Amino acid sequence: MFERPRGTRDFGPEEMAERRKLENILRRTFESYGYKEIMTPIFEHAELFVERSGPAILDEMYVFTDKGGRELSLRPELTAPVMRFYANEMQRMPKPLKLYYFGQAFRYERPQKGRYREFWQMGLELIGADTPEATAEIISVAYDSMKNSGLKDFKLRIGDVRILKEFLNSIGMNNRDVMRAIDKRDESALTQEIIDFISVASKEGIRKYGPEDEANHYLSVLDILDAAGIEYHIDLGIARGLDYYTGIVFEIEAPKLGAERQICGGGEYRLAELFGAQPVATSGFAIGFDRTLLALKREGFTAEIKAPCVYIIPDRSTVAHAFSLARRIRSMEIRAEMEITGKSIGKALKRANSIGSRYAVILGGNEVKEGKATVKDMQSGEQKEMDEKDLMGYMESACKEGN
Ligand code: HAM
Repeated sequence: MFERPRGTRDFGPEEMAERRKLENILRRTFESYGYKEIMTPIFEHAELFVERSGPAILDEMYVFTDKGGRELSLRPELTAPVMRFYANEMQRMPKPLKLYYFGQAFRYERPQKGRYREFWQMGLELIGADTPEATAEIISVAYDSMKNSGLKDFKLRIGDVRILKEFLNSIGMNNRDVMRAIDKRDESALTQEIIDFISVASKEGIRKYGPEDEANHYLSVLDILDAAGIEYHIDLGIARGLDYYTGIVFEIEAPKLGAERQICGGGEYRLAELFGAQPVATSGFAIGFDRTLLALKREGFTAEIKAPCVYIIPDRSTVAHAFSLARRIRSMEIRAEMEITGKSIGKALKRANSIGSRYAVILGGNEVKEGKATVKDMQSGEQKEMDEKDLMGYMESACKEGN
């Protein structure tokens, strides 16, 4: 027997039903703001991510050489691929461009609950808009995604890496080690001055540390969020693990998830020029799909697997007839299953019951010859014979809703 590769998962039917349910909620939320879905390859030239994404991610990349000697990498995230796509093919499109994606990312990390080597992100990139309302909008999409999913216990934190970096510059400490320690909240590696700075949690604090234009932008975004009733926490200590951020950054956490509680992250960034495109304002975020689902499940999130409405039971002489009938029923968008293991009628009825089918249709040889079928209501146990020509209409109305 083969083991699954470390850090990967298989998903059974129950879990897939939950995943699809959440995916649909998130898609609907993103699309309600006018974002359009795109898709990029699972692997890219490794160089795409080098120096753009920062050391934390580079250490974690799945890099390999293909048979043509090219150095490729499974994507550790999707922002760089989307911006590559933009630079290659979408620069002339009318702005703002509102793009979203749902797909796998791969990071060679030490697996634990909520941290995988293969995981899914649902994210968006907004290209060509740098107003406060543009940034407020992406934050609002992230916030509404959580609200619409039904998640109750989450916390949105908003910071600004330009303000953070200018502060660190002013004290001669703007380097990756310090940024990393701030990102990890490793106070033992930080000076008191830095700890005081990252503890600033008020609008006055933002004004105090400036620079003025950035502080004004930040505060304007917060004003819009305030008016929209979006709850957030100011946190100047958000450093983000990726190097491309230039302004406002934000994260959402689900406190109950413990160490891997960050379920969404993003902000304003610059990548277009690095990929050979004209400079353009960009911002975006990605929701950690798997972690969001974990947080939801802790709060009781479930999804039902839909049972068939009709279970069709032939005897040996009516198999072909039943097969065609089942197809006709399905063509009316009714879920219909047929007994395909040759079970006796009694056992087939038990099976219909155990999978939760609403009705069973029994097609005995003599009945079929007379153009009839027996319909059993699996809830009441009631059974009646009807003309097969009436069966379609009956099933159509019986299976219409909720079944
Ligand atoms: P990120 O913060 O690296 O940002 O990842 C986004 C989310 O993906 C995290 O908040 C987390 O929930 C989830 N995540 C990250 N690593 C793992 C893992 N090993 N297992 C499970 N979930 C994980 C980005 O990737 C940026 N591209 C976001 C962005 C879009 N910024 C601008 N546009």
